[in-house]
Amino acid sequence: MPRFDDADLGVDAPQDPRQSDAHGALSPRDQRAGSGLAIPSETGNTIEIPATRSSISDAASFMHNLSLAPSMKDRRGSRNSFGTSLPIPRSPRLSRLSSVQKASRPSVSRDILASQVQDMSAEKVAKAKNMAFAFDIDGVLAHGNHAIEEAKVALKILNGDNELGIRIPHILLTNGGGKTEEARCAQLSEILEQPISTDQFIQSHTPMQALAEYYETVLVLGGEGFKIREVAENYGFKHVVHPKDLLAWDPSISPWATLTDEERAQAKPRDFSKVKFDAIMVFADSRDYQTDFQVIMDLLLAEDGKLMTKAKDPVATRIPIYFSQGDLLMPTEHKGLPRLTQGAFRISVEAQYKTLTGVDLERVVYGKPERATYTYADEVMKSWMEELHGEARLPENIYMVGDNPASDIIGGNMYGWNTCLVRTGVFQGGPGENAPDSPANFGVFDNVLEAVKAAVAKELGADFQLKWNPKVNPVLHGEATSAIE
Ligand code: G3P
Ligand code: MG
Repeated sequence: MPRFDDADLGVDAPQDPRQSDAHGALSPRDQRAGSGLAIPSETGNTIEIPATRSSISDAASFMHNLSLAPSMKDRRGSRNSFGTSLPIPRSPRLSRLSSVQKASRPSVSRDILASQVQDMSAEKVAKAKNMAFAFDIDGVLAHGNHAIEEAKVALKILNGDNELGIRIPHILLTNGGGKTEEARCAQLSEILEQPISTDQFIQSHTPMQALAEYYETVLVLGGEGFKIREVAENYGFKHVVHPKDLLAWDPSISPWATLTDEERAQAKPRDFSKVKFDAIMVFADSRDYQTDFQVIMDLLLAEDGKLMTKAKDPVATRIPIYFSQGDLLMPTEHKGLPRLTQGAFRISVEAQYKTLTGVDLERVVYGKPERATYTYADEVMKSWMEELHGEARLPENIYMVGDNPASDIIGGNMYGWNTCLVRTGVFQGGPGENAPDSPANFGVFDNVLEAVKAAVAKELGADFQLKWNPKVNPVLHGEATSAIE
């Protein structure tokens, strides 16, 4: 099929017109040197030819060291953390769905009763207000779209099902992403049967909204359908281009990709040869590796972000590329090994770029365990404290509950949080085992409920009741009487 220009697509004047002779579109075929491998010629009888190259991946030497070697020592060598700046929003975005949070409030009579109980227990209340949790999602609260049963109970306790009827602050800090915060919170609220507000919620790409102040025209990749476009537009990026927009403009850009009628209807093609891209943002797992690899390479190798061009110096005019997180593995409903995720995609991009140019790709990786993400989490925690308790401050005792030592635990340890590793996700160590490279400092637990119980017992006492008693009589300080609710 032909490539279209703006006149065909009914699009207004292009930005930054490209020179008419710049048709040096990169073809992987043009770039690839002959492998020199012999091909078996006898049909039906294969012959084995010894490999001429090492079977060890070329990419190994320049993989992000957080992915496979998450020791503190290696971590300190990470340029990503100590050399590159990762902008984050100065203050967290306030939810436009405050009704979600309000829906969590128990009845007025229960509120009154709880505040009477809390008035009688000032010391315990102060301790409860001085602790908080940061929960990982995948492998801790849920597997894909299925809640982990113990997580429902744990959140219920923290939402007031305890002897004080007090809400203990908790935020959700996930390396997941791909849809809007509102959509994901609605989904989580449903499966966890507890209200989750966007004001207590951070996805891998949530802090990347700060980048909208730096870049206007961005290629955004990952996630289902076109959902990621809405995410980026919500963040304030002015011109958001999706790989399917490029496919709709020029189907030959990805030789084997096809668009459904629905996708074609949603795509926003224009003459992209006339557009200058400012940056590439990978926000979630690719659903079409081939197309995404190809358009990323096209832009990384282009002259100053102009498709259909090829830079003479691939480094001097290369546009920046951002990844929302670096996890190599993720827990899913799959019963076998954890599944590969965005880190694997990124390493492949790095390997392709190095192979095509001979140069290491510089890139920025957000998400846990990056300090920027934890710093942003502090801001969210503070504002959630204000929402819950009217005090915009950080509790002193923060517990990170995670399943992935390489992101949740190493990040929490570095950030001075108490860390709890659970066995319901990536980490699958047996009884008595902790993660060897980045052990959880508060311990390893079978599931999130056990971690929450242990943290609450430490801060509020082993006898602290993890149940709200609707018949409690505050005057008798905890003694049950006739039902008041
Ligand atoms: O790494 C992929 C993502 O699913 C991980 O999410 O919640 O475990 O940080 P989470
Ligand atoms: Mg996880």
